[in-house]
Amino acid sequence: MARLLHVVGSPRGERSASVEVAEAYIAAYQGRHPGAAIDTLDLWREPLPEFDRPALEAKYAGLAGVERSAEQNRAWDGIRALAQRFHDADVVVFSIPMWNFGIPYKLKHLIDYISQKDVLFRFDASGFEGMLKGKKAIVVCARGISYATGTSTPEAEYDFQKAFMLLWLRFIGITDAETIVVEQTLMGPDADRQARQQGIERARALAQG
Ligand SMILES: Cc1cc2nc3c(=O)[nH]c(=O)nc-3n(C[C@H](O)[C@H](O)[C@H](O)COP(=O)(O)O)c2cc1C
Repeated sequence: MARLLHVVGSPRGERSASVEVAEAYIAAYQGRHPGAAIDTLDLWREPLPEFDRPALEAKYAGLAGVERSAEQNRAWDGIRALAQRFHDADVVVFSIPMWNFGIPYKLKHLIDYISQKDVLFRFDASGFEGMLKGKKAIVVCARGISYATGTSTPEAEYDFQKAFMLLWLRFIGITDAETIVVEQTLMGPDADRQARQQGIERARALAQG
């Protein structure tokens, strides 16, 4: 059975451009994979545990090869449980609004929480190795304005959203990542509608691929 995980990074519900486009991908994916299991991780509805001192100490204990305390093990179990939802998925879809040129803090919270050695990556003297190899990611990036070359906000200088997500995905082993950029959602209703429509068409095309 095909399994898709949808990570919802926008709190805007049905008004969200990134969620609307992601849902078009998911609907087309379900068309191609009838009976696919869809897991939704809505970062605004599912409270994430803090990456607090016990979690941090559990991380450093693991890095030092020291046995974890009971409290640290409980913290680590929470990390593993959430990360397991990524291991279980064939495809991970992200709905991501650009906030202050980067990603919303809830998504950063998730990334800081689950990006752990022997959970999502391994490392030794030869470097890092991601543990989520063979999976596909669809990264939907919504933005209020344009980041085209020639504007005052060219992507090469201003984008810490798409670039960061692709870097993180590579780090955890997902090299098959497609991006769908939905720009100018704040430039009036016509521009917003057109951007969403283009995003939906690209999403449907990607789901066929
Ligand atoms: C807190 C906040 C910060 C934002 N920062 C940016 C930004 O840096 N650049 C930009 O182009 N749009 C920015 N926007 C606009 C959103 O990216 C835009 O409305 C986008 O469509 C949101 O995606 P969503 O509809 O999926 O929530 C910001 C919006 C909010 C709420």
